[in-house]
Amino acid sequence: MSTSSSTAAERDFKRVFLKIVFILLGVLLICFSIFFVNHQENNKYIIETLELNGSAEEGDALFKMNCVGCHGITARGLVGPDLHSITQRLNDKEIIKQVTGGLTPPMPSFEIDPVNMSNLLKYLHSLE
Ligand code: HEC
Repeated sequence: MSTSSSTAAERDFKRVFLKIVFILLGVLLICFSIFFVNHQENNKYIIETLELNGSAEEGDALFKMNCVGCHGITARGLVGPDLHSITQRLNDKEIIKQVTGGLTPPMPSFEIDPVNMSNLLKYLHSLE
């Protein structure tokens, strides 16, 4: 018997340690796949929206229904900020994330299809 052979306690420890490593790897893998799937979906939505050429009038109507309460009837700002020349500060992708993401309470996240999102973008671009 060599002196380096592990004791039963050491073998147990190794087995438990390996188990924990595998569980952690599994959890990481799941996290990554969730993140990846979400990311893909977001990108698909953004790409679809950016491919469309929206209508500013439709966007104006949408804005009047959903946004004026906070951003003001002429988008000059109330609770939310003035949105004139917003398109010079944020790119389209950032605006889409702002509207659909719900990342800055109290502004809610809006579930809006690509066509309407594209209309809203066109309207915001008209507010130079
Ligand atoms: C409940 C109030 C509320 C509603 C409704 C709302 N917003 Fe907002 N919005 C805010 C607030 C507050 C902010 C500032 C958030 C921050 O930066 O912390 C904001 C920020 C923004 C910004 C970013 C402005 C900047 O200077 O960075 C954009 C773009 C925007 N809103 C667009 C919209 C659009 C388009 C709608 C309608 C679909 C909408 N918002 C509806 C409250 C609202």
